[in-house]
This record gives sequence, C-alpha cells and structure tokens, in this order.
Amino acid sequence: MPVTTALPMLTASDVVDKLRALRARQPVKYWAFYSSQLGGIVTDPALMVIPFDDHMVHRGHGIFDTAAIEAGKIYDLEAHLDRFIRSAKNSKLKLPTRDEMRDIIVRTTAASGRREGSIRYWASSGPGSLGLAPAGGADPGFFVMIFAGLVYPDTWYKQGLRVMTTTYPIKPPLYAITKSVTYLPNVLMQMEAQERGVDNGVFIDEAGNVGESSNMNVAFVSADGRLKHPKFDHILSGCTSLRLLELARALQARGVIKSVEVCDIPVAEARASCEMLLIGSSVKVAPIVEWDGKLIGDGKPGPIARALHELLTEDMRSGRDRLIDVPYA
Ligand SMILES: Cc1ncc(COP(=O)(O)O)c(C=O)c1O
Repeated sequence: MPVTTALPMLTASDVVDKLRALRARQPVKYWAFYSSQLGGIVTDPALMVIPFDDHMVHRGHGIFDTAAIEAGKIYDLEAHLDRFIRSAKNSKLKLPTRDEMRDIIVRTTAASGRREGSIRYWASSGPGSLGLAPAGGADPGFFVMIFAGLVYPDTWYKQGLRVMTTTYPIKPPLYAITKSVTYLPNVLMQMEAQERGVDNGVFIDEAGNVGESSNMNVAFVSADGRLKHPKFDHILSGCTSLRLLELARALQARGVIKSVEVCDIPVAEARASCEMLLIGSSVKVAPIVEWDGKLIGDGKPGPIARALHELLTEDMRSGRDRLIDVPYA
C-alpha cells in the first residue's frame, strides 16, 4: 500500500480510475459479470464490484458454485443449480427462481463471447448494515462471473500430484455440505500444502475416515479393483464425482473395475490403495501419486485415473442431456 502524507477525498470518477489502475497492475481474466444490484452485465473488470457492506463480504453470508463452459456449451449446469439451491436453503438465502438463474447464467456466458472457461455464481443476503443478521429489507444479491477458470500444471496429469494430510480440522458436516463462501479451512489447507512443497491437502474426519481436498473430492481404487468414494454426508457433493460414479459403471461393465462404492474409507485402507484420484470441475480427474511422503501404488499415474478422465472429457463434449447451448451473438 503506498504511503501518502495526505489522504485524498476521491470523486466517483477518481474511484473508477483507481479501480482501472488496480486491474492494470494485476490483470485478470474476467470476461463478463452480471450483478442483480447493477441490474445488468459489465465486461470491464474494474466495474465488477459489490458493496462493502454486502453481508457476503463482511460476514461470509453467501454461497457460490462453479460450472464449466466447454466448446461453447455449459456442462452439467442443472447439477450445479441443484447444489446451489440446497446451499441456499441451508444458509437461509433467497434466490431468484431456477429458470431466472439459468437464463441469467446463459445470457452472461453469451455476453462474454467465450467458448471455453468457467462460470462462477454467488448469492448473498445483500447490503444494508454491518450487523450480524442480514439488514432488514436488504435486497438479496445474485452475481455471475465468466472467467478463465483455474488451470493446473500438465505435470499433475502426466506425473501425478503429491498431497499431505492437513493439520486443519475438517468442517462440521452442515458447513461441509453447504457451498458457502466461508472457505477459510480450505484456503489454509492449500496454503499449508504449498508451504510444505506439496500440491494439496486432504481433510480427515474425526472418525479417521478420508474427507476431501481443498476444492476437490478424492477417491481411491483398491488393490482388488474397487472404485471407492467417501460418503457425501460430511463433504461437498462434487458434481464431477457424482457424474463420474455414474460413468464408471461403463468401466465396471467392461471388467476394468470390480465395483463402484460410496462408503466410509479409513485412512489406513486408503493408503493401501493402488490409485488415488483428485476430482473436481476444474481439475476433472488427476492422479495423486504420493500422500504424506509415501507412494500410492507404484507412485505412477494409474490406468483408472486415465480412463475416468477420458470418460469425463467425452461426456463434456458430447453428453447431450448435460449440455446447454449458449446463444452467442
Ligand atoms: C470443498 C470442495 N469439495 C469438492 C469440490 C468438487 O466439486 P465439483 O466437482 O462440483 O467441482 C469442490 C468444488 O466445488 C469443493 O470446493
């Protein structure tokens, strides 16, 4: 922060200039932003703002979700909307109708002109006070951002990732199944992993079963060929995991895996797996080859991670019932 002798009083146009200068110093790949508070879409990242007293900003009372734009279509939006609506209910947040949200998301995507990228959308209880409960009469906010999405290194797929058991406690189930903006444990877990020179962390629950990673789920392939995923009652219901568990039936039918199971996975059992997978909308499926300094299987990316990645990529390109057309200009 620059040290100034006097604090200037800024006009509205000074503020816009300053916000533009900020973006020039730290360019972002944000292509279009809808705000119910602005009542429309902006494409200048300097104008993608929400009021400081919005309850989502100062109390973390907001929810979000992220879906992918793939080859000019939106993938699996209905699953993401299902989760968003569940999260809103758990957070006592009011939403536009499902049809309105879908329409705004599709039209903001069209306005971005982008055929590859990510859509993140938020709901907040709105501005109006700095109190603990939402301000009386506050207008709930709905926001949609079209952006470049998170990109992970190629080595994650070719060589695999290294993870550690985080020292941070897993969120209690209600907060873990709700995709609220309060991601402090997730952020701290990822920072801790970076500080220790590994790629990500894994939460373990109080009973000693595997939970999830920072913004991704994890799954395992046992030495006898069973695909196992932790239960969704105390971790986020990953839309990617849910879809992969369906797609994996094709591998079972071909005899590539023996079964698909959603169950408690004790840490010792998980460590003895021959494959460990990281799963999410942004990463898709990536192999984890080392956990707490010990190799998973032979320490090389395995065939099931590859096969599931291929199934998902194919579904994102041609799963007609899961793709929404975008009316680009
Ligand atoms: C904590 C957490 N777990 C799992 C996931 C994976 O969910 P999805 O597959 O819907 O991206 C995410 C991402 O949203 C997440 O934030």
